[in-house]
Amino acid sequence: MVSSISSSTKFPRMAPSTVDGPTNGSVKSKEEDGSAPLFEIDDSDLSKLLEKPRPLNIERKRSFDERSFSEMSIAMSPPRNNNFYRTSDNSSRVFDNLDGVYSPGRWTGTPRSGYFEPHPIVGEAWEALRRSMVNYRGQPVGTIAALDNSSEELNYDQVFVRDFVPSALAFLMNGEPEIVKNFLLKTVYLQSREKKVDNFKLGEGVMPASFKVLHNPVRNTETILADYGESAIGRVAPVDSGFWWIILLRAYTKSTGDSSLSEMPEIQRGIRLIMTLCLSEGFDTFPTLLCADGCCMIDRRMGVYGYPIEIQALFFMALRCASQLLKRDAEGNECIDQIVKRLHALSFHMRSYFWLDIKQLNDIYRYKTEEYSHTAVNKFNVIPDSLPDWVFDFMPTRGGYFIGNVSPAKMDFRWFCLGNCVAILSALATPEQSSAIMDLIESRWQELVGEMPLKICYPAMESHEWRIVTGCDPKNTSWSYHNGGSWPVLIWLLTAACIKAGRPQTAKRAIELAESRLLMDGWPEYYDGKLGRFIGKQARKNQTWSIAGYLVAKMMLEDPSHLGMISLEEDKQMKPQMKRSASWAF
Ligand code: GLC
Repeated sequence: MVSSISSSTKFPRMAPSTVDGPTNGSVKSKEEDGSAPLFEIDDSDLSKLLEKPRPLNIERKRSFDERSFSEMSIAMSPPRNNNFYRTSDNSSRVFDNLDGVYSPGRWTGTPRSGYFEPHPIVGEAWEALRRSMVNYRGQPVGTIAALDNSSEELNYDQVFVRDFVPSALAFLMNGEPEIVKNFLLKTVYLQSREKKVDNFKLGEGVMPASFKVLHNPVRNTETILADYGESAIGRVAPVDSGFWWIILLRAYTKSTGDSSLSEMPEIQRGIRLIMTLCLSEGFDTFPTLLCADGCCMIDRRMGVYGYPIEIQALFFMALRCASQLLKRDAEGNECIDQIVKRLHALSFHMRSYFWLDIKQLNDIYRYKTEEYSHTAVNKFNVIPDSLPDWVFDFMPTRGGYFIGNVSPAKMDFRWFCLGNCVAILSALATPEQSSAIMDLIESRWQELVGEMPLKICYPAMESHEWRIVTGCDPKNTSWSYHNGGSWPVLIWLLTAACIKAGRPQTAKRAIELAESRLLMDGWPEYYDGKLGRFIGKQARKNQTWSIAGYLVAKMMLEDPSHLGMISLEEDKQMKPQMKRSASWAF
């Protein structure tokens, strides 16, 4: 692998200042709107990484290799006959109406000829995705959140780390890894900045929520502005960014076979910094990661503080990816030791206490309270009266899911889509739990998929609860936006989870719903209503991750071998300690 960065290159660590001019060489901070400091990178820094065309001297390898074969639990057969999927318990399931498959290759924007005729909107989607690409000094480094000139920009003109993930996967699946590599390098560089919010210094490993390329027509220069939460509405922390970055790094490595990127000292350091941040010891009594509200995809106050499932599932997946990516040197080994211990405790905790099915629900319903000592069955002192009415109707006889949050005396029983799908992909969910999640989605189709996939969470909070929990947020009214709105981007996660769990037909049903409207509606960010029938009140149009999410879902369904880049096989060493319907007591 040829790289313009010598192995001894260190990213400079520089302090921000309030003057609008280079300080300490090349980094400066700027009060962009007079209030929020943003940290800039001057041209010279990143150009070191990006300006020289660095030939990807990689033997291009499809994401499908022997390992991903077993990870997918899918029996592949030659194209056209690829209608035979194996479920996670290794039984097989034949399904009929899969449209066929095509071999991966570059999608250039015109329909591919051959045995597979893509849906007409696929071409439009690729064109829209390409229009969203952001260049830095002539090189693509990400995709903008939304290209909607009709509404106020806010921060939708930025490259969000989490939003770029489906774009990156689409490019990887289409054999275009360069943009992903540039993005990974640029963000690791941004990680090494010193970040401050109102005089408070953030942890070294914090990755930005988003960044923006600024063009200065007078000086003819380009500058990168990153936001670590200090400009975000509500000043929320992007806890998920670092996890997505690691997950994407593994996807890139798996898809291209190019391990020279992940082995770069800067990248290894980046992984270790993220690990140090989230593995540090403190007052915690649980192995889950304690977070503030709004620290993930749901980046507004929605009562997801504490131990939200989205973060716990991403944390678990990032730990597993990091342990694969870290080099087995002294520093790497030390980190891996910590990861292994945490994974062990985390999987036990999540599989036991976050899991809810009809048996668990009934056990909680009958809980005794005020138990003390190690013999306590109701360890978190959950008061049965706090069980919401809706959960008794929602819980099917067959099925289950990881609930939103577990904290003392209070469980958040809401269903969150992203966390449950990532739990399946990362194998945090046991094979039995994965099947149960699928059973739940299938039996609660109206509620969770409705007319537009996919509900971000279920159910919505209403009236008094909405006032207290969201702080009267007018954007998060019932069945809108984060509060029970439907987000097309989630379809790629559902599709990946369905394929892994041996239920591709379920994904196909959802994709068909999405493609009947997405292009016509202008690729909205989200839909509103109990069934997701209405374009969201304040939804942006041409939302990039709605476009990319659809493409990734299509490509995965058509060529399930792509799943390997975003899915992990079960770690046999993390033996499930409980079965699906075991009791809460241990
Ligand atoms: C909204 C979403 C967030 C997303 C951002 C950019 O703030 O809640 O998840 O990253 O928009 O699309």
